[in-house]
Amino acid sequence: MTAATQRRLDIPELKNAERTELHPKLNRAHVRFIGLGKTYEGRQGPVAALQGIDLAIQRGEVFGIIGRSGAGKSSLIRTINRLEQPTSGRVLIDQVDIGEFDEDRLVALRRRIGMIFQHFNLMSAKTVWQNVELPLKVAGVPKEQREKKVRELLELVGLQAKHKAYPAQLSGGQKQRVGIARALVHDPDILLCDEATSALDPETTQSILGLLREINKRLGLTIVLITHEMAVIRDICDRVVVLEHGHVVEQGPVWEVFGNPQHEVSQTLLAPLQHALPEELQSRLQVQSSSSGAAVVLRLQFTGSASDEPDLAALFAALGGRVKLLQGGIERIQGHALGQLLLAVSSSPWNAEQLRERAGQWAQRVEVLGYVV
Ligand SMILES: Nc1ncnc2c1ncn2[C@@H]1O[C@H](COP(=O)(O)OP(=O)(O)OP(=O)(O)O)[C@@H](O)[C@H]1O
Ligand SMILES: [Mg+2]
Repeated sequence: MTAATQRRLDIPELKNAERTELHPKLNRAHVRFIGLGKTYEGRQGPVAALQGIDLAIQRGEVFGIIGRSGAGKSSLIRTINRLEQPTSGRVLIDQVDIGEFDEDRLVALRRRIGMIFQHFNLMSAKTVWQNVELPLKVAGVPKEQREKKVRELLELVGLQAKHKAYPAQLSGGQKQRVGIARALVHDPDILLCDEATSALDPETTQSILGLLREINKRLGLTIVLITHEMAVIRDICDRVVVLEHGHVVEQGPVWEVFGNPQHEVSQTLLAPLQHALPEELQSRLQVQSSSSGAAVVLRLQFTGSASDEPDLAALFAALGGRVKLLQGGIERIQGHALGQLLLAVSSSPWNAEQLRERAGQWAQRVEVLGYVV
């Protein structure tokens, strides 16, 4: 484990000695997992899906959960509304241990926690209006109030015009909007999203994310979100946790984890967001310089720890010679400049190692990838 991973896992508020509901640092925690474990009785014996999970989700944040398939993401999120009963440890919501809740308190708890799914889970024989209204009917809410609420929510998700349609007559994005409206009927303060955009095309995903962001800001909802799409985490989440084999392997603000992933799993998951070396260039790349005219190929990574975008004129001047930009880009996540530049430097007075050092004044990480003629 690197020092940085250790630092992240060793968050002071999670130390054993401080595991108390009254600790001032924990006051803002909306959801806390304390030493949480979940073991399923599988056909081939017990499956440890979650082990020793310690996490705090703050009120009003959008919190992402990522990890490989089978890492325990769904198991974890489902302990928040007790669709899954933990085998060990505790889940606190607003400092209250939900482990001891009886049936009545569980029903009340689940009304405070909305959930949306990948496959929408709508009733096919009911209209949009009826799908959203149903949980209110079940809860015994009077007709007038129901109508007011359903109208409000259909307006919020932009589906007023479709209120008489049946799910089969809706696009995927519209179905998910119904799912979101239905999840909000009891004015919850937590919204759980388990791969809510996985069945949608990129454009529809963006519109659903926009809606979730609006709900988060306007209604102040805490959103806990599982996804396999790293761009979704980048675009909407404040913090992210990486699970592997039921353990937390990394967590932190999105810009920090995405800018400088420490754990091998995080690096693998985030690799699709990184620009790979173009294949054509890769094939021409040599480990050793074969001629004096060869250009040095540098990869500069910007991990977001400096707040400014790189000053290219100053960078190029420091490298000397001719500098060609092969590939790259910088994006901003939570106000931090992240990205990488692939540069080919030729006719410079400096050798590869010197170039690496000089580039290091501007980028957080610099590698010499090789040489091209
Ligand atoms: N009801 C169950 N009975 C037995 N084993 C289960 C059950 N539910 C989940 N598991 C196992 O627990 C582990 C974690 O499953 P979980 O569904 O939480 O993973 P996940 O991270 O959500 O995966 P995915 O990305 O594929 O949805 C897996 O090994 C899974 O096979
Ligand atoms: Mg899952």
